[in-house]
Amino acid sequence: MGNRQNVSLWMETSTKKSYPKLQRHMSVDAAVIGGGLAGITVAYLLKRQGLSTCVLEAREIGGGVTGNTTAKITAQHGLKLDSLIKKNGLKAAKQYAEVNSQAIGFMEKLALSLNIDCDFKRTFSCIITEDVARTQDILKEAEAAQRLGIEAEYYHRPSFEATRNADIKAAVKFFNQAQFHPLKYLYGVAEGFHDGTSCNIYEGTRATDIEKGKVNKVITEEGLVISAKYVVVATHFPFFDKRNLYFTKLYPERSYVMSFIAEEGFSEGMYKTAEEGFSLRTHALEDGRQLILLAGGYHRTGSGCYMMKNYLDLEKTAQRLFTVKESLWKWSAQDYSTPDGLPYAGQIACAMPNVFVMTGFDKWGMTNSTAAAMVISDFISSGYSPYLAAYNPLRPLKSFASFFTYLGKNIATMGRLIGGRLSRLPSKAIVKKGEARLINMKGVRTGVYRDEEGKVHVVKAVCSHMGCQLKFNDAEKTWDCPCHGSRYDLEGKVIEAPTKKALTRIEKGNFLD
Ligand code: FES
Repeated sequence: MGNRQNVSLWMETSTKKSYPKLQRHMSVDAAVIGGGLAGITVAYLLKRQGLSTCVLEAREIGGGVTGNTTAKITAQHGLKLDSLIKKNGLKAAKQYAEVNSQAIGFMEKLALSLNIDCDFKRTFSCIITEDVARTQDILKEAEAAQRLGIEAEYYHRPSFEATRNADIKAAVKFFNQAQFHPLKYLYGVAEGFHDGTSCNIYEGTRATDIEKGKVNKVITEEGLVISAKYVVVATHFPFFDKRNLYFTKLYPERSYVMSFIAEEGFSEGMYKTAEEGFSLRTHALEDGRQLILLAGGYHRTGSGCYMMKNYLDLEKTAQRLFTVKESLWKWSAQDYSTPDGLPYAGQIACAMPNVFVMTGFDKWGMTNSTAAAMVISDFISSGYSPYLAAYNPLRPLKSFASFFTYLGKNIATMGRLIGGRLSRLPSKAIVKKGEARLINMKGVRTGVYRDEEGKVHVVKAVCSHMGCQLKFNDAEKTWDCPCHGSRYDLEGKVIEAPTKKALTRIEKGNFLD
């Protein structure tokens, strides 16, 4: 157990039940596509309303971002609240803060009512800064939290036990937040949902399309049809967007987590630096040892040349803050943010009023996905949610700042599309074990990777979504797209949307020196 890269702590310390693959056409009140925290929670809430509901998961439930998070359950989302007020106004920011705070209590109650042993623990959450220039930002965030009704306190030059080797200039502490084991919780809610009669989970069942109708139809890869009045797309990145161009308003970002045992440890609390530094929490292992989780290395998917550096930087930060005794699991995750900082939860398009989408949780998916599930469940039951205005995916951008974020990111994407096609590559290359190279094979941008056993994996290194140049991710041995975040394994199979199509595999030719 442990000391492994690309396997999360949560995956190795939980036991998952298997669910069957869908084998027949079926008819339900509601079909939820995606078996992460957002999908399973909304499915459970729809079941509670008495709706027959199915969950369709392409791989295994919890296998995506839910199994790779740091699992902080908090309404403290970095320096977010002050920015939300500025970009979206007080009302929308208040809705965001309120529903995220409610999500914490909802999760606690649900874990209790379903008797889920998921290490749920109430604790505080702090934003800290080691940069004196950010102290005003921390103060503003504390003031914003208070305006939005969140109990928060500002500290000047505090000395917190967890970060005693950091030179903290200022902090804001949010009280009564929480942390847990996300997969134990998810699997518990899934068991509470799946009854084998009217409410079922199907794994290994990939939805590929939705056809509009009085009763909508979800089509699977195998051509099976699920007729459902309501459809909820909870696939992290929406696999279907009804020409609403979600790929232009969702920005993919990767981040990294390492876990370790330290000489000193610390008693409690969750921490996040205001600057792009690090995030901290603890987790109690079953053998009684305290594990420290350190996250950081935030960057746009597919940008940068050397992804392993993110793990190496985390190791340096860990050594700076603690006396590391033993390093255990390391893993990474992908998150999507929106131009105005608010998630999307609501109708996917005006033309499809009974098809809903949940996405754009930034790096705060535990409370945001639960909040999104509450918003959609309320809307389905009554046609109204008090938080719909803030979460509505069809909202216009309210500020110039949001508009310029949107414009800037899309111009950068256009640059990647054009720039990628023009770059010059060699026609031959020496590819050593563990290395990847891009070559120009008869006019085709080709990605070559030689694994540690010497086997060569060759794919067309052009994204099947819209043709961006793929970059090799040496930390995870994947081909990543810098435009909208699609990712592929060494054989070209899709790991992350928006693409739905695998890369073309190329036979090993005479291009290797
Ligand atoms: Fe859109 Fe690659 S994900 S071009």
